[in-house]
Amino acid sequence: MTVLNDFRLRLGDNEYLPIMVGGMGVDISTSALALEACRLGGIGHISDAMTPWVSDRHMNTHFTKTKSGRFKFNRNSQDKTQVKFNLDELYKATLGVVTAAVERKQGDGGLFINVMEKLTMGAAADTLGTRLKAALDAGIDGITLSAGLHNGTLKLIKDHPRFHDVKIGIIVSSVRALKIFLRSGKRVDRIPDYCIVEGPLAGGHLGFGEDWADYDLRNIVPEVIDFVKSEELDIAVIPAGGIFTGTDAVEYMEMGCSAVQVATRFTITKECGLPEHVKQQYLEAEEKDVEVNSLSATGYLIRMLKNSPAIGSNIKPQCEPLGYTLSSEGTCLYVDAYYNTPDDEKGRKMPVMDKICICHHFGQHNVWTCGHNVYRLKDTTNRLADGSYQLPAAKDVFNDYLFSENHEIALPPVEAETA
Ligand SMILES: Cc1cc2nc3c(=O)[nH]c(=O)nc-3n(C[C@H](O)[C@H](O)[C@H](O)COP(=O)(O)O)c2cc1C
Repeated sequence: MTVLNDFRLRLGDNEYLPIMVGGMGVDISTSALALEACRLGGIGHISDAMTPWVSDRHMNTHFTKTKSGRFKFNRNSQDKTQVKFNLDELYKATLGVVTAAVERKQGDGGLFINVMEKLTMGAAADTLGTRLKAALDAGIDGITLSAGLHNGTLKLIKDHPRFHDVKIGIIVSSVRALKIFLRSGKRVDRIPDYCIVEGPLAGGHLGFGEDWADYDLRNIVPEVIDFVKSEELDIAVIPAGGIFTGTDAVEYMEMGCSAVQVATRFTITKECGLPEHVKQQYLEAEEKDVEVNSLSATGYLIRMLKNSPAIGSNIKPQCEPLGYTLSSEGTCLYVDAYYNTPDDEKGRKMPVMDKICICHHFGQHNVWTCGHNVYRLKDTTNRLADGSYQLPAAKDVFNDYLFSENHEIALPPVEAETA
């Protein structure tokens, strides 16, 4: 029987096992997780979401505190137009985080970075260009552009010496979005090496509107493959969103895909950056506990567990220390929602129900975003005597994808007494 391990992903001169572990911000797809996928011969993604914050957390830097101090005077103001990132600091933070990962790389796989356009950071093009340049300078193997059409992104790095050698891909949810990106690529003579086609069952933000449930990855992928073939483009097509077993993956490979991108199965691994109690929440979740909502300050729909602690929080906007979703004009949907929410009779802000301060709450792992299949995670590991679930190693999940047959899932080797 054909298994995923029978296939290989070729990008230029490089050959990989056909598994990409998707980027998961903030600090969910840690460098430990990405490096493990890379060591095993696949592709792992770190995320460039809030790298100054991530650097402060792991590398004893103080970028967030410094920025906060600089804009302390503005904390009580609704007007955030003056709050900007210092580009030198942003460069240093990204360079530090990416270099630390690149230096620990082992094996023949790829270490890629997921870069979201929607992180507009008060000056969209300048901050995006700075983050990309830092990642390239640090020696990242590949850049996956996400959360946006990236119409103007390639031109920001077109003069970088690694522009033609680094692998570049984009996440799209339709042929239309791919065509837009290809037009911008033509202008700088750069065709992407791969495109990730993300369907409506994915975790994180969705590239669909309220009618997301009407779409099916199994229909979008053949459209993209047909388009790429008809244009004779050398672009690897990689589906993502709801690929839960190795057999699901093989079905896409047999359609003509070059690899799969997966994430939710890895959220409960030891290497994933979510705290242990959040991993247990993912493991305990039932299908009814998952929702797609419009609470993200990015304006995109997002899938999360309904009991995410961020929902209904009334925290004051954290733009001075964080401010990753501020537009170039200094606006953020959460800032508007916060100031439109009245105080109660004691003068305290009522719960803000329209939007979430995602900078603060993603940083604290209070937004429990997940793919639709999160409720199946409990079937992928062992239940322990105390009722909690064993956390598998990333290697266990990776190998299960590679060798699974008939949609069967191999449980990780038992580490503690099971119930
Ligand atoms: C916890 C979590 C966080 C995610 N964060 C991001 C992100 O920051 N940027 C992004 O492009 N995709 C993000 N995603 C999407 C994944 O990279 C991936 O494409 C998708 O979830 C694959 O579907 P699956 O989770 O059903 O395997 C996230 C997914 C999860 C589960």
